Amino acid sequence: MKKITIKKILSKKNKTPIVCLTAYSAITAKIVDKYCDIILVGDSLGMVLYGMKTTREVKIETMILHAKAVKKFSRRSFVVFDMPYKTYTNKITAYKNAKKVMKLTKCDAIKLEGGKEIVKIIKHLVKKGIPVMGHIGLLPQTSLNFKVKGKNILQERKIFKDALEISNSGVFAIVIECVLERLAKKITKTISVPTIGIGASRYCDGQILVTEDMLGLSETYPKFVKRYSNLRSLMEKNVKKYMKDVKMRKFPAAKNIYR
Ligand code: KIV
Repeated sequence: MKKITIKKILSKKNKTPIVCLTAYSAITAKIVDKYCDIILVGDSLGMVLYGMKTTREVKIETMILHAKAVKKFSRRSFVVFDMPYKTYTNKITAYKNAKKVMKLTKCDAIKLEGGKEIVKIIKHLVKKGIPVMGHIGLLPQTSLNFKVKGKNILQERKIFKDALEISNSGVFAIVIECVLERLAKKITKTISVPTIGIGASRYCDGQILVTEDMLGLSETYPKFVKRYSNLRSLMEKNVKKYMKDVKMRKFPAAKNIYR
């Protein structure tokens, strides 16, 4: 089994779509690792696992615990740690936190949300040997509304400029979240590093989704999510069956008993 490297990810630009999913636990990592190029330990875990209202409440210590479990059981995929809100406010803080994350989790890279305002931070981290993935378009850590981006000309220009500046700052890939198809296409055609889309059309070099969303385990879904299953109703059905079995003393059955 060959481990995915940055070189391999870069080589896929304009050739083979890059497959990415999120994972927050050992059990999910073991499964998605077989099929993904990149696994993101996303700060979306705050909302998905902990029921937080936004990703802003996520603490770095929580992310580290989950990332350790994911990394331990990812033998093939390239594992990216999503730096939580306020952990990269300047060069010094960003490096201190990123260094700690890389040391404790052994992840392969970190991801930062933001446009040209974080270029200096990215350059500093890359210079210090920390691989960085960018994230532009809709930025869950700071966005005031969760609407598609790039609809007006000012927004379109800003996101395109962000893409250019971030791609020239040393990142190995950029997540583009929730932008119009034509903008994602233009960015992907222009920049030299791979783009990973989430709600950003098929004109990206790769795709990412939150695993719980794509499996149909979440409660609400943005339009861009394709649900490959309905694990939520499956889980509910089986929990109900279990409840009935326990109440009717059908469980444990003979085969579940030590005699
Ligand atoms: O936190 C996250 O899961 C993300 C992605 C889905 C891109 O940032």
